[in-house]
Amino acid sequence: MADALFTAPPVDGPWLVVDDPTAAVTTVLEQRGQPFARWDRFAGGLSSDPSPEPPAGPFGAVAMRMNRAREVLEYALHAAAARVAPGAPLYLYGANDEGARSAGKRLAPLFAEAETVETRRHCRLWRAIRTEEPARGALADHRREVTLPLPGGAVTLVSYPGVFAKGRLDDGSRLLLTALADAPLGTVRRALDFGCGLGVLALGVRQRFAEVTLHALDADAVAVAAARENLPGASVAVGDRWGALAWLDTRAGGYDLIVSNPPLHRGVTLELGLLSDFVEGAARELTPGGALILVTQQHRAAHRVVEEHLGTPQLLAEDGRFRVWLARK
Ligand SMILES: C[S@@+](CC[C@H](N)C(=O)[O-])C[C@H]1O[C@@H](n2cnc3c(N)ncnc32)[C@H](O)[C@@H]1O
Repeated sequence: MADALFTAPPVDGPWLVVDDPTAAVTTVLEQRGQPFARWDRFAGGLSSDPSPEPPAGPFGAVAMRMNRAREVLEYALHAAAARVAPGAPLYLYGANDEGARSAGKRLAPLFAEAETVETRRHCRLWRAIRTEEPARGALADHRREVTLPLPGGAVTLVSYPGVFAKGRLDDGSRLLLTALADAPLGTVRRALDFGCGLGVLALGVRQRFAEVTLHALDADAVAVAAARENLPGASVAVGDRWGALAWLDTRAGGYDLIVSNPPLHRGVTLELGLLSDFVEGAARELTPGGALILVTQQHRAAHRVVEEHLGTPQLLAEDGRFRVWLARK
């Protein structure tokens, strides 16, 4: 993508650069003296200041990194399309196993004349032209409400495109919530939902401990926007793993309870290092005697990772697919 940008014709206005985790695209634009603004929905890599919507624009062209999640891509296309004039080019690039091979057909009707500019090393770069088709460019245009059957009672939540688990209650999260309802816990004054998504686990904590001070974090700025609506009174921060704590008020001390259905992937890649990073951080951020409750798929050896940092965990629940573990500091 970066190479192709060197030969792209000049555009009328600044570039909008969507998700550029290695800064490869912005580096080339800087070298060419082309103005640009970044939009990073997700924290991580060199992404800076993640936000749920792009800057207002208007922009002369879009350079977008492919996202394999259909809803994430679709929302990004709407958000970008609303910020460029008809006739402006969109460059979309990514790996074939992220869906880039067939991405051209996903660009219509907001973008037309999709053509492959280049293929190299299992990656593809598409170019398409903005049409006159109206775009739904604000996050609010994509807001929907979902009612989820939490064990402590059904709740109606705000959801946005691409937030885990597509407006449903994940089976692992449901098992955690059921176990949480009568887990052997003392007083819980402060709790953290790590990788909160819509905030369902935090809501489960509040259903059991009505007075709890809730914190939540997620790498997805759109998830954080939803969780802020779903968890009134809670502090919710966007950031990469424990880096998000910098935006939460931790002066009052550690957490009596940390709950998580923790992230194990970066993009499409399984990274088990994320699990030990999570548990190691939990061991640091819990109050003495504080509890960590996490759920993972049964075949992941989560208990070994927990053991390393917090001692032998207690198996709270299992259903053949998932296991819920409790460990204390
Ligand atoms: C398995 S989902 C669980 C979501 C939610 N807690 C639930 O139970 O429905 C994992 C969440 O972790 C978030 N996540 C992924 N990578 C992350 C990272 N590096 N730092 C923080 N959160 C991350 C994802 O955006 C996703 O919302």
